Amino acid sequence: MRPDRIGGDSWWRQAVVYQVYPRSFADANGDGIGDLAGITSRTPYLASLGVDAVWLSPFYPSQLADGGYDVDDHRDVDPLLGSLDDFDELVTALHREDIKLFVDIVPNHSSTRSAWFREAMEAEPGSPARDRFIFRDGRGQSGALPPSDWPSHFGPSAWTRTRNADGTPGQWYLHLFAPEQPDYNWDNEDVREYFRGTLRFWADRGVDGFRIDVAHALVKDLSEPLRSKPVFVDFDNPPTGDDVLFDRNEVHDVYRDWRRIFDEYDPPRVAVAEAVVSAPRRVLYTRSDELHQAFNFDLLNSYWSRDEYHAAIESSLTHAREAGTSSTWVLSNHDNVRHATRYGLAEGVEPTTWLARGADPTLLDPDLGSRRARAATLLMLALPGSAYLYQGEELGLPEVADIPIDRLQDPIWVRSSGELKGRDGCRVPLPWTADGAAFGFGPGASHLPQPRWFADYAVDVEDDDPHSTLSMYRAAISLRGRLAVNEDLTFLPSEHGVLHFARTASWESVTNFNLTAVTLPPGTVMLSSEPLNGDLLPAGATAWIAPDESPAPI
Ligand code: BGC
Repeated sequence: MRPDRIGGDSWWRQAVVYQVYPRSFADANGDGIGDLAGITSRTPYLASLGVDAVWLSPFYPSQLADGGYDVDDHRDVDPLLGSLDDFDELVTALHREDIKLFVDIVPNHSSTRSAWFREAMEAEPGSPARDRFIFRDGRGQSGALPPSDWPSHFGPSAWTRTRNADGTPGQWYLHLFAPEQPDYNWDNEDVREYFRGTLRFWADRGVDGFRIDVAHALVKDLSEPLRSKPVFVDFDNPPTGDDVLFDRNEVHDVYRDWRRIFDEYDPPRVAVAEAVVSAPRRVLYTRSDELHQAFNFDLLNSYWSRDEYHAAIESSLTHAREAGTSSTWVLSNHDNVRHATRYGLAEGVEPTTWLARGADPTLLDPDLGSRRARAATLLMLALPGSAYLYQGEELGLPEVADIPIDRLQDPIWVRSSGELKGRDGCRVPLPWTADGAAFGFGPGASHLPQPRWFADYAVDVEDDDPHSTLSMYRAAISLRGRLAVNEDLTFLPSEHGVLHFARTASWESVTNFNLTAVTLPPGTVMLSSEPLNGDLLPAGATAWIAPDESPAPI
């Protein structure tokens, strides 16, 4: 058993949570797609990392129009990924290792293949079956124009027109994401009851927590005439809770309702919101009678800059403290270019634009990226709050930037008419072994092609190397488990371009954002992201230090 950090029902406050993207983690049956049995078989690996919890991205039946975030049935397992029995085995295997499990709940939208949407399509306009979604007549002559100017996140319009049974054009339905993902109508009581039942379904199966997808979007202003919404998230305008589509004040009623369900369980279930809103609005989702945490993408959105990191950390900690929660930290996930690549790009190069324009190798310094990514991770793991890791980052995996166009799966590629590459490059199946079929991912080929250089990052290569990124993650997570005895952080005076803070009397973290080495603060180095030479901290490196005369780590 690992020692309880800030224990008991507050385990989530400083947890290390490892995100598994199930289709790309491990393939037990050899069909090229990762599955639940594959994850179960890798439980010893997860235990060896020392993570407190695993978050599973969707594994539900899906037509894969959006990587599984188009859910046909929230209470089942996609047959390609296994069965409910496999799920139960996974829960048992993780719990045996004292690893908790989060599942992804996708409450904003459904799938065009779901039983309810099919029923709605058969039903008349204005019927109860249609009211579970957002159907409207079109504007203009014979309703040929979409009901409003609302954009889809994947572009272009958020409305798709239906066809009536006789083949004539019918009503339109709303989908903030792909057309295969019709939005639910959260003013409808059937929808609310369905999600209450879904949360109980998984909590009853032993799930410890939930990640709430697009938590800020559920409730919309659907009053007629529909208001205009030209931009997606407008961070420049002070939020009021009265936007048409996002972060409306009424959405919090949903989470108050859910919190009562979480608290029915012993231990209480917990939840983290993916709410893409400004920091002061974010913590509203974490009030004591709502969800527990909200994702904070401030580090993920920060460039390699001491001042950006400092500002992000200071503001996140202040807001979280005021709301009585702890902050979350994220450097990579399934929606973003991996941080080992982001931090290797020349200054000013925006990662998705770089990908879209053919991933010019002259704009990328892979060694620099990998060095800075390790330093960023070590810094992140020293922060109070929960760190969310994304599968493969512990291997230092870079983005796969050259997936052939005919193998791309992300709807962003098609919906942007090829202007954006999409997110497949961070979803390529993991390399477990340097040799063998699909680098040990499974006995068959993998559903997204793996580049040859994946061999260098294979788990079995890094396992044996004390200086590998994998070894650094293991050491850092283990040390953090012993050192993170409170949630304090004090910034310490430092040289230009250096971020130095103390967590406790025996734990400091120092990061050098400069292009040249700096002198290390006094103390004993417990761990560093780069080999050290004397009392110098190299450019792009982090060290954890036990200050002189501090109590020795237990
Ligand atoms: C998920 C994405 C997904 C979108 C729609 C997000 O925030 O992380 O992967 O495409 O929600 O469900």
